[in-house]
Amino acid sequence: MRTHYCGELNAKHIGDTITVCGWVHRRRDHGGVIFLDLRDRQGLLQVVVDPDTKDAFATADRARSEWVMQITGLVRARPEGTVNADMPTGEIEVLGREVRVLNTADTPPFQLDEHAKVGEEVRLKHRYMDLRRPEMLENLMLRSRVTTFVRNFLAGHGFVDTETPVLTRATPEGARDYLVPSRVHKGEFFALPQSPQLFKQLLMVAGLDRYFQIAKCFRDEDLRADRQPEFTQIDLEMSFADEEAVMRLTESMIRDLFQAEMDVDLGAFPRMPYAEAMARFGSDKPDLRIPLELIDIKDLMAEVDFKVFSGPANDPNGRVTVLKVPGGASISRKEIDDYTKFVGQYGAKGLAWVKVNALSEGLEGLQSPILKFMPDDVVMALIERVNAADGDILFFGADSTRVVSDGLGALRVKLGHDLNLLTHQWAPLWVVDFPMFEDAGDGHVAALHHPFTAPTVDADTLKTKPLDALSRAYDMVLNGTELGGGSIRIHDQAMQQAVFDVLNISAEEQREKFGFLLDALRYGAPPHGGLAFGLDRLVMLMLGATSIRDVIAFPKTQSATCLLTDAPGVVSAEQLKEVGVRIRQDKTETM
Ligand code: AMO
Ligand code: AMP
Repeated sequence: MRTHYCGELNAKHIGDTITVCGWVHRRRDHGGVIFLDLRDRQGLLQVVVDPDTKDAFATADRARSEWVMQITGLVRARPEGTVNADMPTGEIEVLGREVRVLNTADTPPFQLDEHAKVGEEVRLKHRYMDLRRPEMLENLMLRSRVTTFVRNFLAGHGFVDTETPVLTRATPEGARDYLVPSRVHKGEFFALPQSPQLFKQLLMVAGLDRYFQIAKCFRDEDLRADRQPEFTQIDLEMSFADEEAVMRLTESMIRDLFQAEMDVDLGAFPRMPYAEAMARFGSDKPDLRIPLELIDIKDLMAEVDFKVFSGPANDPNGRVTVLKVPGGASISRKEIDDYTKFVGQYGAKGLAWVKVNALSEGLEGLQSPILKFMPDDVVMALIERVNAADGDILFFGADSTRVVSDGLGALRVKLGHDLNLLTHQWAPLWVVDFPMFEDAGDGHVAALHHPFTAPTVDADTLKTKPLDALSRAYDMVLNGTELGGGSIRIHDQAMQQAVFDVLNISAEEQREKFGFLLDALRYGAPPHGGLAFGLDRLVMLMLGATSIRDVIAFPKTQSATCLLTDAPGVVSAEQLKEVGVRIRQDKTETM
Protein backbone atom coordinates (compact mmCIF):
# COMPACT_ATOMS: atom_id res chain seq x y z
CA MET A 1 0.00 0.00 0.00
CA ARG A 2 2.98 2.32 0.38
CA THR A 3 6.36 2.94 -1.17
CA HIS A 4 7.98 4.57 1.87
CA TYR A 5 7.52 5.22 5.56
CA CYS A 6 6.61 8.85 6.31
CA GLY A 7 9.60 9.33 8.58
CA GLU A 8 12.22 8.04 6.14
CA LEU A 9 11.74 10.60 3.38
CA ASN A 10 14.39 13.29 2.97
CA ALA A 11 16.10 15.54 0.44
CA LYS A 12 17.35 12.48 -1.46
CA HIS A 13 13.77 11.76 -2.50
CA ILE A 14 13.10 15.19 -4.02
CA GLY A 15 11.41 14.74 -7.40
CA ASP A 16 10.11 11.24 -6.60
CA THR A 17 6.46 10.32 -6.60
CA ILE A 18 5.78 8.30 -3.48
CA THR A 19 2.91 6.75 -1.55
CA VAL A 20 2.75 6.87 2.23
CA CYS A 21 0.25 5.64 4.81
CA GLY A 22 -0.27 6.91 8.33
CA TRP A 23 -2.29 8.85 10.86
CA VAL A 24 -3.23 12.52 10.73
CA HIS A 25 -1.11 14.05 13.46
CA ARG A 26 -2.29 17.58 12.75
CA ARG A 27 -4.36 19.25 10.06
CA ARG A 28 -3.93 22.93 9.33
CA ASP A 29 -5.81 25.12 6.90
CA HIS A 30 -3.52 27.87 5.60
CA GLY A 31 -5.44 30.25 3.39
CA GLY A 32 -6.82 27.70 1.00
CA VAL A 33 -3.92 25.25 1.26
CA ILE A 34 -4.27 22.27 3.59
CA PHE A 35 -1.33 20.92 5.54
CA LEU A 36 -1.55 17.40 6.90
CA ASP A 37 1.20 16.20 9.22
CA LEU A 38 1.10 12.48 8.57
CA ARG A 39 2.63 10.19 11.17
CA ASP A 40 3.79 6.61 11.12
CA ARG A 41 6.21 4.49 13.14
CA GLN A 42 9.21 6.16 11.56
CA GLY A 43 8.17 9.78 12.07
CA LEU A 44 6.24 12.79 10.80
CA LEU A 45 5.86 14.07 7.26
CA GLN A 46 4.34 17.33 6.03
CA VAL A 47 1.86 16.91 3.21
CA VAL A 48 0.49 19.92 1.33
CA VAL A 49 -2.73 19.69 -0.67
CA ASP A 50 -3.67 22.46 -3.14
CA PRO A 51 -7.23 23.36 -4.11
CA ASP A 52 -6.43 22.69 -7.79
CA THR A 53 -6.35 18.93 -7.07
CA LYS A 54 -10.03 19.02 -6.29
CA ASP A 55 -10.79 15.53 -5.01
CA ALA A 56 -7.62 15.35 -2.99
CA PHE A 57 -8.35 18.74 -1.49
CA ALA A 58 -11.92 17.82 -0.53
CA THR A 59 -10.71 14.63 1.18
CA ALA A 60 -7.88 16.41 2.99
CA ASP A 61 -10.36 19.03 4.12
CA ARG A 62 -12.53 16.36 5.74
CA ALA A 63 -9.66 14.63 7.50
CA ARG A 64 -9.43 14.90 11.27
CA SER A 65 -6.93 14.00 13.96
CA GLU A 66 -5.93 10.34 13.96
CA TRP A 67 -7.74 9.44 10.73
CA VAL A 68 -5.85 6.86 8.73
CA MET A 69 -4.79 8.05 5.28
CA GLN A 70 -3.04 6.89 2.15
CA ILE A 71 -1.44 9.69 0.19
CA THR A 72 0.37 9.67 -3.13
CA GLY A 73 2.31 12.73 -4.13
CA LEU A 74 5.51 14.42 -5.20
CA VAL A 75 8.41 14.99 -2.82
CA ARG A 76 9.67 18.56 -3.11
CA ALA A 77 11.97 20.89 -1.21
CA ARG A 78 10.26 23.11 1.34
CA PRO A 79 10.16 26.77 0.38
CA GLU A 80 13.00 28.78 1.85
CA GLY A 81 12.36 29.88 5.43
CA THR A 82 10.06 26.95 6.18
CA VAL A 83 12.78 24.31 6.61
CA ASN A 84 12.51 22.64 10.03
CA ALA A 85 15.97 21.56 11.16
CA ASP A 86 14.53 19.73 14.22
CA MET A 87 12.65 17.27 12.02
CA PRO A 88 14.37 14.46 10.08
CA THR A 89 11.92 15.15 7.23
CA GLY A 90 12.14 18.92 7.81
CA GLU A 91 13.82 19.79 4.49
CA ILE A 92 11.02 18.39 2.36
CA GLU A 93 7.28 18.16 1.98
CA VAL A 94 4.97 16.09 -0.16
CA LEU A 95 2.58 17.70 -2.60
CA GLY A 96 -0.43 15.41 -2.17
CA ARG A 97 -2.14 14.44 -5.41
CA GLU A 98 -4.22 11.45 -4.36
CA VAL A 99 -5.61 11.44 -0.86
CA ARG A 100 -7.58 8.46 0.44
CA VAL A 101 -9.22 7.92 3.80
CA LEU A 102 -8.46 4.37 4.93
CA ASN A 103 -10.33 4.84 8.17
CA THR A 104 -11.89 7.55 10.26
CA ALA A 105 -11.37 7.95 14.00
CA ASP A 106 -13.46 9.16 16.90
CA THR A 107 -12.17 12.21 18.73
CA PRO A 108 -9.08 10.89 20.57
CA PRO A 109 -9.30 10.60 24.39
CA PHE A 110 -6.27 12.89 24.50
CA GLN A 111 -4.13 14.77 22.01
CA LEU A 112 -0.90 12.86 21.63
CA ASP A 113 1.12 16.06 22.12
CA GLU A 114 -0.75 16.74 25.32
CA HIS A 115 -0.41 13.33 26.94
CA ALA A 116 1.30 14.88 29.96
CA LYS A 117 -1.88 16.78 30.79
CA VAL A 118 -3.97 13.65 31.21
CA GLY A 119 -3.23 11.25 34.04
CA GLU A 120 -1.39 8.00 33.45
CA GLU A 121 -4.69 6.21 34.03
CA VAL A 122 -6.19 7.67 30.86
CA ARG A 123 -3.06 6.75 28.95
CA LEU A 124 -3.10 3.17 30.23
CA LYS A 125 -6.79 2.76 29.50
CA HIS A 126 -6.21 3.80 25.90
CA ARG A 127 -2.76 2.31 25.70
CA TYR A 128 -2.97 1.79 21.91
CA MET A 129 -3.31 5.58 21.60
CA ASP A 130 -0.54 6.25 24.10
CA LEU A 131 1.75 3.91 22.19
CA ARG A 132 1.18 5.97 19.03
CA ARG A 133 3.33 8.66 20.59
CA PRO A 134 6.71 8.65 18.83
CA GLU A 135 8.63 8.37 22.15
CA MET A 136 6.66 5.30 23.13
CA LEU A 137 7.09 3.61 19.77
CA GLU A 138 10.80 4.38 19.97
CA ASN A 139 10.91 2.75 23.44
CA LEU A 140 9.37 -0.43 22.04
CA MET A 141 11.65 -0.40 19.03
CA LEU A 142 14.73 -0.02 21.26
CA ARG A 143 13.46 -2.89 23.38
CA SER A 144 13.20 -5.01 20.26
CA ARG A 145 16.73 -4.07 19.18
CA VAL A 146 18.00 -5.02 22.65
CA THR A 147 16.38 -8.47 22.55
CA THR A 148 17.68 -9.02 19.02
CA PHE A 149 21.18 -8.00 20.11
CA VAL A 150 21.02 -10.28 23.14
CA ARG A 151 19.74 -13.23 21.12
CA ASN A 152 22.50 -12.81 18.55
CA PHE A 153 25.17 -12.34 21.21
CA LEU A 154 24.16 -15.37 23.23
CA ALA A 155 23.50 -17.61 20.23
CA GLY A 156 26.94 -16.55 18.97
CA HIS A 157 28.43 -17.77 22.25
CA GLY A 158 26.80 -21.19 22.02
CA PHE A 159 23.73 -20.57 24.17
CA VAL A 160 20.63 -22.58 23.30
CA ASP A 161 17.33 -20.70 23.44
CA THR A 162 15.03 -23.02 25.40
CA GLU A 163 11.51 -22.46 26.69
CA THR A 164 10.55 -23.58 30.16
CA PRO A 165 7.01 -24.06 31.50
CA VAL A 166 4.78 -21.25 32.64
CA LEU A 167 2.33 -23.59 34.37
CA THR A 168 4.60 -25.03 37.00
CA ARG A 169 5.42 -25.29 40.69
CA ALA A 170 6.52 -22.51 43.01
CA THR A 171 10.10 -21.23 42.59
CA PRO A 172 11.35 -19.55 45.73
CA GLU A 173 12.62 -16.12 44.65
CA GLY A 174 11.19 -14.41 47.69
CA ALA A 175 7.84 -13.13 46.38
CA ARG A 176 4.30 -14.49 46.54
CA ASP A 177 3.20 -16.77 43.70
CA TYR A 178 0.48 -16.22 41.17
CA LEU A 179 -1.62 -19.37 41.30
CA VAL A 180 -3.65 -21.08 38.59
CA PRO A 181 -6.29 -23.62 39.65
CA SER A 182 -6.29 -26.96 37.92
CA ARG A 183 -9.61 -28.12 36.46
CA VAL A 184 -8.44 -31.67 36.03
CA HIS A 185 -7.07 -31.93 39.57
CA LYS A 186 -9.54 -29.99 41.63
CA GLY A 187 -8.10 -28.37 44.72
CA GLU A 188 -4.63 -28.31 43.16
CA PHE A 189 -2.83 -25.32 41.72
CA PHE A 190 -0.06 -24.47 39.34
CA ALA A 191 2.19 -21.57 40.23
CA LEU A 192 3.43 -19.18 37.54
CA PRO A 193 7.24 -19.10 37.63
CA GLN A 194 8.95 -16.33 39.62
CA SER A 195 11.90 -17.24 37.41
CA PRO A 196 13.00 -20.25 35.34
CA GLN A 197 15.63 -20.97 38.04
CA LEU A 198 14.97 -24.65 38.69
CA PHE A 199 14.36 -25.59 35.07
CA LYS A 200 17.55 -23.94 33.88
CA GLN A 201 19.48 -25.92 36.47
CA LEU A 202 17.78 -29.10 35.27
CA LEU A 203 18.82 -28.21 31.71
CA MET A 204 22.42 -28.16 32.93
CA VAL A 205 21.95 -31.61 34.47
CA ALA A 206 20.55 -32.60 31.07
CA GLY A 207 23.79 -31.58 29.39
CA LEU A 208 22.54 -28.59 27.37
CA ASP A 209 25.70 -26.82 28.60
CA ARG A 210 24.60 -23.27 27.79
CA TYR A 211 20.97 -22.12 28.06
CA PHE A 212 19.27 -18.80 27.59
CA GLN A 213 15.71 -17.57 27.41
CA ILE A 214 13.97 -14.25 27.25
CA ALA A 215 11.51 -15.33 29.89
CA LYS A 216 8.36 -13.95 31.44
CA CYS A 217 8.45 -14.07 35.24
CA PHE A 218 5.57 -13.50 37.65
CA ARG A 219 5.87 -12.16 41.17
CA ASP A 220 3.05 -11.03 43.40
CA GLU A 221 4.93 -8.39 45.36
CA ASP A 222 4.56 -4.75 46.32
CA LEU A 223 5.08 -2.72 43.19
CA ARG A 224 7.40 0.23 42.70
CA ALA A 225 8.57 2.32 39.79
CA ASP A 226 11.04 -0.41 38.80
CA ARG A 227 8.88 -3.45 39.53
CA GLN A 228 6.02 -5.10 37.68
CA PRO A 229 4.08 -8.24 38.67
CA GLU A 230 4.84 -9.65 35.24
CA PHE A 231 8.26 -8.81 33.87
CA THR A 232 10.91 -10.20 31.56
CA GLN A 233 14.30 -11.67 32.31
CA ILE A 234 17.23 -12.30 30.06
CA ASP A 235 17.94 -15.59 31.78
CA LEU A 236 21.04 -17.69 31.24
CA GLU A 237 22.94 -20.61 32.70
CA MET A 238 26.31 -22.21 31.92
CA SER A 239 27.89 -25.55 32.85
CA PHE A 240 31.52 -26.03 33.86
CA ALA A 241 31.73 -22.31 34.55
CA ASP A 242 32.91 -20.41 37.60
CA GLU A 243 31.93 -16.89 38.65
CA GLU A 244 34.70 -15.38 36.52
CA ALA A 245 33.30 -17.01 33.39
CA VAL A 246 29.73 -15.88 34.02
CA MET A 247 30.74 -12.35 34.96
CA ARG A 248 33.14 -11.97 32.05
CA LEU A 249 30.56 -13.09 29.51
CA THR A 250 27.63 -11.07 30.84
CA GLU A 251 29.73 -7.96 31.39
CA SER A 252 30.94 -8.07 27.81
CA MET A 253 27.37 -8.53 26.58
CA ILE A 254 26.20 -5.38 28.38
CA ARG A 255 29.31 -3.44 27.36
CA ASP A 256 28.89 -4.44 23.70
CA LEU A 257 25.18 -3.61 23.83
CA PHE A 258 25.82 -0.09 25.15
CA GLN A 259 28.55 0.41 22.58
CA ALA A 260 26.36 -0.76 19.69
CA GLU A 261 23.09 0.91 20.65
CA MET A 262 24.17 4.04 22.50
CA ASP A 263 27.77 4.59 21.47
CA VAL A 264 28.67 4.50 25.17
CA ASP A 265 31.84 2.83 26.45
CA LEU A 266 31.08 1.48 29.91
CA GLY A 267 34.69 0.36 30.42
CA ALA A 268 35.65 -2.45 32.81
CA PHE A 269 33.15 -2.83 35.66
CA PRO A 270 34.69 -2.41 39.12
CA ARG A 271 33.88 -5.02 41.78
CA MET A 272 32.88 -4.27 45.32
CA PRO A 273 32.27 -6.66 48.22
CA TYR A 274 28.78 -6.47 49.69
CA ALA A 275 30.17 -5.45 53.12
CA GLU A 276 31.99 -2.49 51.59
CA ALA A 277 28.91 -1.39 49.63
CA MET A 278 26.78 -1.45 52.78
CA ALA A 279 29.43 0.36 54.85
CA ARG A 280 30.19 3.12 52.35
CA PHE A 281 26.83 3.54 50.63
CA GLY A 282 24.23 1.87 52.85
CA SER A 283 23.07 -0.16 49.86
CA ASP A 284 23.87 -3.38 48.01
CA LYS A 285 23.19 -1.52 44.76
CA PRO A 286 25.15 1.68 45.24
CA ASP A 287 24.78 4.51 42.78
CA LEU A 288 28.43 5.37 42.17
CA ARG A 289 27.59 8.52 40.22
CA ILE A 290 26.99 10.23 43.56
CA PRO A 291 30.16 11.32 45.37
CA LEU A 292 28.81 10.98 48.93
CA GLU A 293 29.71 8.29 51.47
CA LEU A 294 28.66 7.15 54.91
CA ILE A 295 31.27 7.39 57.67
CA ASP A 296 30.80 5.20 60.73
CA ILE A 297 31.22 6.82 64.15
CA LYS A 298 29.97 4.01 66.39
CA ASP A 299 33.22 3.96 68.40
CA LEU A 300 33.06 7.72 69.07
CA MET A 301 29.50 7.64 70.38
CA ALA A 302 29.70 4.73 72.84
CA GLU A 303 30.17 6.93 75.90
CA VAL A 304 28.10 10.03 75.12
CA ASP A 305 25.07 11.00 77.24
CA PHE A 306 22.86 11.29 74.15
CA LYS A 307 20.98 7.97 74.41
CA VAL A 308 19.75 8.24 70.82
CA PHE A 309 23.40 7.71 69.76
CA SER A 310 24.92 5.72 72.63
CA GLY A 311 22.13 3.11 72.52
CA PRO A 312 22.81 1.88 68.98
CA ALA A 313 26.56 2.48 69.51
CA ASN A 314 26.55 -0.18 72.21
CA ASP A 315 24.27 -2.58 70.38
CA PRO A 316 25.97 -5.22 68.20
CA ASN A 317 23.10 -4.84 65.70
CA GLY A 318 23.25 -1.05 65.86
CA ARG A 319 24.84 1.45 63.52
CA VAL A 320 25.78 5.10 64.06
CA THR A 321 26.92 6.87 60.95
CA VAL A 322 27.38 10.24 59.28
CA LEU A 323 26.51 11.35 55.78
CA LYS A 324 28.65 14.35 54.96
CA VAL A 325 27.31 16.69 52.27
CA PRO A 326 29.82 19.27 51.04
CA GLY A 327 28.08 22.60 50.44
CA GLY A 328 25.01 21.35 52.32
CA ALA A 329 25.12 23.98 55.07
CA SER A 330 22.81 26.11 52.94
CA ILE A 331 20.02 23.51 53.21
CA SER A 332 17.10 25.20 54.99
CA ARG A 333 15.29 24.05 58.15
CA LYS A 334 12.21 23.30 56.07
CA GLU A 335 14.29 21.09 53.74
CA ILE A 336 15.85 19.34 56.73
CA ASP A 337 12.32 18.64 58.01
CA ASP A 338 11.42 17.15 54.64
CA TYR A 339 14.55 14.97 54.64
CA THR A 340 13.67 13.87 58.18
CA LYS A 341 10.27 12.73 56.90
CA PHE A 342 12.00 11.02 54.00
CA VAL A 343 14.26 8.88 56.21
CA GLY A 344 11.21 8.27 58.43
CA GLN A 345 9.82 6.08 55.62
CA TYR A 346 12.72 3.74 56.29
CA GLY A 347 12.01 3.62 60.01
CA ALA A 348 14.43 6.36 61.16
CA LYS A 349 13.16 8.14 64.24
CA GLY A 350 14.93 11.40 63.43
CA LEU A 351 17.68 12.99 61.42
CA ALA A 352 20.19 14.80 63.59
CA TRP A 353 22.45 17.28 61.79
CA VAL A 354 25.43 19.59 62.22
CA LYS A 355 26.10 22.55 59.97
CA VAL A 356 29.77 23.45 59.69
CA ASN A 357 29.72 27.23 59.31
CA ALA A 358 33.24 28.29 60.30
CA LEU A 359 35.77 25.75 61.56
CA SER A 360 38.15 28.57 62.50
CA GLU A 361 35.71 29.54 65.25
CA GLY A 362 35.89 26.07 66.81
CA LEU A 363 32.71 24.83 68.49
CA GLU A 364 31.14 28.27 68.03
CA GLY A 365 31.35 27.78 64.29
CA LEU A 366 29.11 24.68 64.41
CA GLN A 367 25.34 24.84 64.42
CA SER A 368 23.29 21.85 65.58
CA PRO A 369 20.49 20.70 67.88
CA ILE A 370 22.54 17.80 69.27
CA LEU A 371 26.07 18.99 70.01
CA LYS A 372 25.03 20.15 73.46
CA PHE A 373 24.65 16.47 74.37
CA MET A 374 28.29 15.67 73.56
CA PRO A 375 31.61 16.43 75.24
CA ASP A 376 33.78 18.87 73.28
CA ASP A 377 36.51 16.33 72.63
CA VAL A 378 33.99 13.94 71.02
CA VAL A 379 32.74 16.75 68.79
CA MET A 380 36.29 17.59 67.72
CA ALA A 381 37.08 13.90 67.09
CA LEU A 382 33.93 13.69 65.00
CA ILE A 383 34.87 16.71 62.91
CA GLU A 384 38.27 15.17 62.33
CA ARG A 385 36.87 11.71 61.50
CA VAL A 386 34.63 13.04 58.76
CA ASN A 387 37.22 15.58 57.64
CA ALA A 388 34.60 18.34 57.72
CA ALA A 389 35.07 21.66 55.95
CA ASP A 390 33.24 24.97 56.06
CA GLY A 391 29.92 24.79 54.25
CA ASP A 392 29.33 21.07 54.98
CA ILE A 393 26.27 19.61 56.61
CA LEU A 394 26.56 16.32 58.49
CA PHE A 395 23.47 14.12 58.74
CA PHE A 396 23.37 11.40 61.39
CA GLY A 397 21.70 8.02 61.53
CA ALA A 398 21.56 6.03 64.76
CA ASP A 399 19.43 2.90 64.95
CA SER A 400 19.54 -0.74 63.91
CA THR A 401 22.02 -1.34 61.09
CA ARG A 402 19.16 -1.96 58.69
CA VAL A 403 17.25 1.26 59.48
CA VAL A 404 20.40 3.40 59.29
CA SER A 405 21.72 1.82 56.09
CA ASP A 406 18.35 1.94 54.33
CA GLY A 407 17.52 5.47 55.47
CA LEU A 408 20.87 7.19 54.98
CA GLY A 409 21.58 5.09 51.87
CA ALA A 410 18.37 6.40 50.29
CA LEU A 411 19.01 9.94 51.57
CA ARG A 412 22.43 9.85 49.92
CA VAL A 413 20.83 9.12 46.55
CA LYS A 414 18.09 11.71 47.06
CA LEU A 415 20.59 14.43 48.00
CA GLY A 416 22.76 13.48 45.06
CA HIS A 417 19.85 14.23 42.71
CA ASP A 418 18.40 17.19 44.63
CA LEU A 419 21.77 18.96 44.77
CA ASN A 420 22.83 17.92 41.25
CA LEU A 421 25.93 16.15 42.48
CA LEU A 422 26.11 13.39 39.84
CA THR A 423 29.67 13.22 38.56
CA HIS A 424 29.15 11.10 35.45
CA GLN A 425 26.43 9.46 33.39
CA TRP A 426 27.03 5.72 33.69
CA ALA A 427 28.27 3.86 36.75
CA PRO A 428 28.21 0.07 36.37
CA LEU A 429 29.69 -2.27 38.97
CA TRP A 430 29.58 -5.81 40.28
CA VAL A 431 28.65 -6.39 43.90
CA VAL A 432 30.23 -9.64 45.11
CA ASP A 433 30.89 -11.61 48.31
CA PHE A 434 27.30 -11.55 49.49
CA PRO A 435 26.45 -13.32 52.74
CA MET A 436 24.66 -16.65 52.20
CA PHE A 437 21.95 -15.81 54.71
CA GLU A 438 20.46 -12.92 56.58
CA ASP A 439 18.90 -12.88 60.01
CA ALA A 440 15.15 -13.19 59.54
CA GLY A 441 14.61 -11.95 63.08
CA ASP A 442 12.54 -14.76 64.57
CA GLY A 443 15.58 -16.95 65.32
CA HIS A 444 15.57 -18.10 61.70
CA VAL A 445 17.77 -17.23 58.78
CA ALA A 446 16.66 -16.51 55.21
CA ALA A 447 18.54 -16.93 51.93
CA LEU A 448 19.89 -13.61 50.66
CA HIS A 449 19.63 -14.74 47.04
CA HIS A 450 17.83 -18.03 46.53
CA PRO A 451 18.53 -21.33 48.30
CA PHE A 452 20.30 -22.86 45.27
CA THR A 453 23.25 -20.47 45.54
CA ALA A 454 26.55 -22.16 46.40
CA PRO A 455 28.41 -21.07 49.55
CA THR A 456 32.16 -20.48 49.66
CA VAL A 457 32.49 -22.85 52.65
CA ASP A 458 31.88 -26.56 53.24
CA ALA A 459 28.60 -27.94 54.56
CA ASP A 460 29.79 -28.34 58.17
CA THR A 461 31.09 -24.79 58.46
CA LEU A 462 27.89 -23.57 56.85
CA LYS A 463 25.77 -25.33 59.43
CA THR A 464 27.77 -24.14 62.43
CA LYS A 465 28.05 -20.48 61.46
CA PRO A 466 25.48 -19.79 58.76
CA LEU A 467 25.43 -16.02 59.20
CA ASP A 468 29.21 -15.83 58.64
CA ALA A 469 29.15 -17.75 55.37
CA LEU A 470 29.60 -15.94 52.06
CA SER A 471 27.98 -17.05 48.83
CA ARG A 472 29.24 -17.29 45.28
CA ALA A 473 26.66 -14.75 44.13
CA TYR A 474 27.14 -11.58 42.11
CA ASP A 475 24.87 -8.70 41.18
CA MET A 476 25.36 -6.31 38.29
CA VAL A 477 24.39 -2.79 39.30
CA LEU A 478 23.98 0.21 37.00
CA ASN A 479 23.32 3.72 38.32
CA GLY A 480 21.91 2.42 41.58
CA THR A 481 19.60 -0.16 39.98
CA GLU A 482 20.10 -3.90 40.25
CA LEU A 483 20.24 -4.84 36.61
CA GLY A 484 20.90 -8.52 37.12
CA GLY A 485 21.87 -11.11 39.64
CA GLY A 486 23.17 -14.63 39.64
CA SER A 487 25.41 -17.16 41.27
CA ILE A 488 27.29 -20.38 41.01
CA ARG A 489 24.80 -23.04 42.10
CA ILE A 490 24.99 -25.97 44.41
CA HIS A 491 25.51 -29.08 42.29
CA ASP A 492 25.97 -31.44 45.20
CA GLN A 493 22.94 -33.03 46.79
CA ALA A 494 24.41 -33.09 50.32
CA MET A 495 25.22 -29.38 50.19
CA GLN A 496 21.76 -28.57 48.88
CA GLN A 497 20.27 -30.48 51.78
CA ALA A 498 22.55 -28.63 54.24
CA VAL A 499 21.26 -25.29 52.92
CA PHE A 500 17.65 -26.43 53.24
CA ASP A 501 18.45 -27.56 56.80
CA VAL A 502 19.92 -24.17 57.72
CA LEU A 503 16.82 -22.55 56.24
CA ASN A 504 14.78 -24.82 58.49
CA ILE A 505 12.95 -26.44 55.60
CA SER A 506 11.87 -29.84 56.91
CA ALA A 507 12.84 -33.04 55.13
CA GLU A 508 9.21 -33.50 54.20
CA GLU A 509 8.89 -30.02 52.75
CA GLN A 510 12.20 -30.44 50.89
CA ARG A 511 10.84 -33.59 49.29
CA GLU A 512 7.46 -32.08 48.59
CA LYS A 513 8.73 -28.86 47.02
CA PHE A 514 12.12 -29.67 45.55
CA GLY A 515 12.26 -33.47 45.44
CA PHE A 516 12.72 -33.32 41.67
CA LEU A 517 15.76 -31.05 42.04
CA LEU A 518 17.34 -33.14 44.80
CA ASP A 519 16.82 -36.24 42.65
CA ALA A 520 18.36 -34.58 39.61
CA LEU A 521 21.43 -33.56 41.62
CA ARG A 522 22.05 -37.27 42.29
CA TYR A 523 22.34 -38.15 38.62
CA GLY A 524 25.55 -36.42 37.67
CA ALA A 525 24.87 -32.68 37.92
CA PRO A 526 27.78 -30.67 36.46
CA PRO A 527 29.14 -27.58 38.25
CA HIS A 528 27.10 -24.70 36.87
CA GLY A 529 26.05 -21.12 37.38
CA GLY A 530 24.28 -18.29 35.65
CA LEU A 531 22.57 -14.96 35.89
CA ALA A 532 19.34 -13.18 34.99
CA PHE A 533 18.98 -9.58 33.87
CA GLY A 534 15.80 -7.60 34.23
CA LEU A 535 15.13 -6.72 30.57
CA ASP A 536 12.60 -4.02 31.45
CA ARG A 537 15.03 -2.35 33.84
CA LEU A 538 17.84 -2.55 31.30
CA VAL A 539 15.78 -0.81 28.61
CA MET A 540 14.48 1.70 31.16
CA LEU A 541 18.03 2.67 32.11
CA MET A 542 19.19 2.88 28.50
CA LEU A 543 16.37 5.33 27.81
CA GLY A 544 16.76 7.29 31.02
CA ALA A 545 13.06 6.57 31.69
CA THR A 546 11.84 6.89 35.26
CA SER A 547 9.21 4.17 35.14
CA ILE A 548 9.45 0.59 33.98
CA ARG A 549 5.92 1.04 32.59
CA ASP A 550 7.30 3.22 29.81
CA VAL A 551 9.19 0.30 28.28
CA ILE A 552 6.45 -2.34 28.53
CA ALA A 553 3.79 -2.36 25.82
CA PHE A 554 0.93 -3.26 28.14
CA PRO A 555 2.01 -2.74 31.74
CA LYS A 556 0.04 -3.08 34.93
CA THR A 557 -0.74 -0.28 37.37
CA GLN A 558 0.83 0.14 40.81
CA SER A 559 -2.09 -1.87 42.16
CA ALA A 560 -1.43 -4.77 39.74
CA THR A 561 -4.37 -4.24 37.41
CA CYS A 562 -4.62 -3.76 33.66
CA LEU A 563 -6.77 -0.71 32.94
CA LEU A 564 -7.04 -1.56 29.27
CA THR A 565 -8.59 -5.02 29.65
CA ASP A 566 -9.87 -4.50 33.17
CA ALA A 567 -7.97 -7.57 34.37
CA PRO A 568 -8.19 -9.18 36.84
CA GLY A 569 -11.91 -9.72 36.46
CA VAL A 570 -14.66 -11.78 38.05
CA VAL A 571 -15.46 -15.08 36.37
CA SER A 572 -18.74 -16.91 36.09
CA ALA A 573 -19.99 -19.26 38.79
CA GLU A 574 -19.80 -22.02 36.24
CA GLN A 575 -16.12 -21.41 35.53
CA LEU A 576 -15.37 -21.37 39.24
CA LYS A 577 -17.18 -24.62 39.74
CA GLU A 578 -15.29 -26.16 36.87
CA VAL A 579 -11.96 -25.42 38.54
CA GLY A 580 -13.27 -26.32 41.97
CA VAL A 581 -12.93 -22.86 43.53
CA ARG A 582 -15.47 -21.22 45.81
CA ILE A 583 -15.15 -17.50 46.64
CA ARG A 584 -15.49 -16.70 50.33
CA GLN A 585 -18.28 -14.27 51.06
CA ASP A 586 -16.08 -12.31 53.48
CA LYS A 587 -13.49 -11.77 50.74
CA THR A 588 -13.13 -8.06 51.44
CA GLU A 589 -12.21 -8.76 55.04
CA THR A 590 -9.56 -11.32 54.20
CA MET A 591 -7.77 -9.02 51.78
P1 AMO B 1 16.48 -12.03 40.73
O1 AMO B 1 15.33 -12.30 41.61
O2 AMO B 1 17.58 -11.18 41.27
O3 AMO B 1 17.20 -13.39 40.31
O4 AMO B 1 15.96 -11.40 39.37
C1 AMO B 1 16.87 -11.06 38.33
C2 AMO B 1 16.58 -9.67 37.81
O5 AMO B 1 15.23 -9.53 37.42
C3 AMO B 1 14.80 -8.19 37.61
N1 AMO B 1 13.56 -8.19 38.42
C4 AMO B 1 12.47 -7.46 38.16
N2 AMO B 1 12.20 -6.60 37.18
C5 AMO B 1 10.98 -6.03 37.16
N3 AMO B 1 10.00 -6.27 38.06
C6 AMO B 1 10.21 -7.16 39.05
N4 AMO B 1 9.22 -7.42 39.92
C7 AMO B 1 11.50 -7.78 39.16
N5 AMO B 1 12.05 -8.68 40.00
C8 AMO B 1 13.30 -8.91 39.54
C9 AMO B 1 15.92 -7.46 38.30
C10 AMO B 1 16.77 -8.58 38.86
O6 AMO B 1 18.11 -8.22 38.96
N6 AMO B 1 16.75 -16.83 39.20
C11 AMO B 1 17.52 -15.68 39.65
C12 AMO B 1 18.64 -15.35 38.70
C13 AMO B 1 19.81 -16.29 38.80
O7 AMO B 1 20.25 -16.59 39.95
O8 AMO B 1 20.34 -16.68 37.72
C14 AMO B 1 16.58 -14.49 39.79
O9 AMO B 1 15.45 -14.50 39.39
O10 AMO B 1 16.64 -6.71 37.35
P1 AMP C 1 15.38 14.55 70.17
O1 AMP C 1 16.26 14.58 71.36
O2 AMP C 1 14.56 13.29 70.00
O3 AMP C 1 14.57 15.81 69.96
O4 AMP C 1 16.36 14.52 68.90
C1 AMP C 1 17.36 15.49 68.72
C2 AMP C 1 17.82 15.43 67.28
O5 AMP C 1 18.24 14.09 66.99
C3 AMP C 1 16.76 15.78 66.26
O6 AMP C 1 17.40 16.50 65.23
C4 AMP C 1 16.31 14.44 65.76
O7 AMP C 1 15.87 14.53 64.40
C5 AMP C 1 17.58 13.63 65.88
N1 AMP C 1 17.32 12.17 66.06
C6 AMP C 1 16.44 11.56 66.87
N2 AMP C 1 16.51 10.23 66.76
C7 AMP C 1 17.48 9.99 65.85
C8 AMP C 1 18.03 8.81 65.28
N3 AMP C 1 17.62 7.59 65.63
N4 AMP C 1 19.02 8.94 64.35
C9 AMP C 1 19.44 10.17 63.98
N5 AMP C 1 18.97 11.30 64.49
C10 AMP C 1 18.00 11.23 65.41
